[in-house]
Amino acid sequence: AKKIVIDTDPGIDDAYAILLALQSSELELLALTTIFGNVRTPLATSNALHLLELAGRPDIPVIQGEVKSLKGVAKERIASFVHGEDGLGNTWPRPPVGKALTGSAAQYLVDVVKKNPREITIVALGPLTNLAQAVLLDPNFASNVGEIVILGGAFLSNGNVNPAAEANILGDPEAADLVFGCGAPIKVIGLDVTRNILMTEVQLQRLRDSDGPFGKYLHNASLFYLKYHVEAYQQNVIMLHDPSVMMAVIQPSLFTFREGPVRVEVEEGPFRALTLAYFGNKKWAAATQWCSRPSVEVAVACNVRQVVQEIMDR
Ligand code: BDR
Ligand code: CA
Repeated sequence: AKKIVIDTDPGIDDAYAILLALQSSELELLALTTIFGNVRTPLATSNALHLLELAGRPDIPVIQGEVKSLKGVAKERIASFVHGEDGLGNTWPRPPVGKALTGSAAQYLVDVVKKNPREITIVALGPLTNLAQAVLLDPNFASNVGEIVILGGAFLSNGNVNPAAEANILGDPEAADLVFGCGAPIKVIGLDVTRNILMTEVQLQRLRDSDGPFGKYLHNASLFYLKYHVEAYQQNVIMLHDPSVMMAVIQPSLFTFREGPVRVEVEEGPFRALTLAYFGNKKWAAATQWCSRPSVEVAVACNVRQVVQEIMDR
């Protein structure tokens, strides 16, 4: 099985992704590292512990991540209007029994990658601060990590926080730009692809009525998230961002990727956190600031029906 670590800000769609990973024999989940985003970092940690306990896997360690962005800013904009005050749709789960391991998430990522060179896939479902810190801590991290698979950005369409910015990238644009330039094997799946991966209200009810282990739990946690989508997009659906990225780890062939360097706008202003990929002629790019950037794989399409079906089935 593929050894993975999930860096996450749970978050309702993060909960889908984590439970999906645990239901997939293709994957071996080594640990969860946490990050601010949908909620602040300590609550992300407590939600991560809760989800593992819910799944009967309290043996999987949780390591708490950064509380501030690379620039040292504590995130003011927490997405409680999308994910609820508790990050899990205001279902207010009981506080977890377990505790996070001591030590930093970035140090954990460095150590696990060093111990298993080119074998670890890191699935990044929140802002990229922990990963950026790992790159800064260890000059060999980028060449030793197996792969980094990222939910982030909007390459061919608008963001979801504002026309330019997707939430995870806006959480720490400097970290994102550093990670995209670090030279590690990277796949990135942005909103262009994930905003098409929808679960309808009817499918949610089917999940509730199924006898799968997490159907009722996820249905219940999704009701708040559904209300947000109805208000924001006038559609009776939820968007499955993070579990889609997990499917891209499980079955990459369901996705179509194009290769190119990616840059993130870090200037303050209306374009902050904009992600841009260059798919053009490398020779031409060599004349620009893009020449020093390693290429990454950017998702441009996927088999929507099958991705949704796999998530439902698992
Ligand atoms: C991403 O931001 C968070 O709200 C979600 O969990 C997902 O990772 C979507 O922009
Ligand atoms: Ca997330």
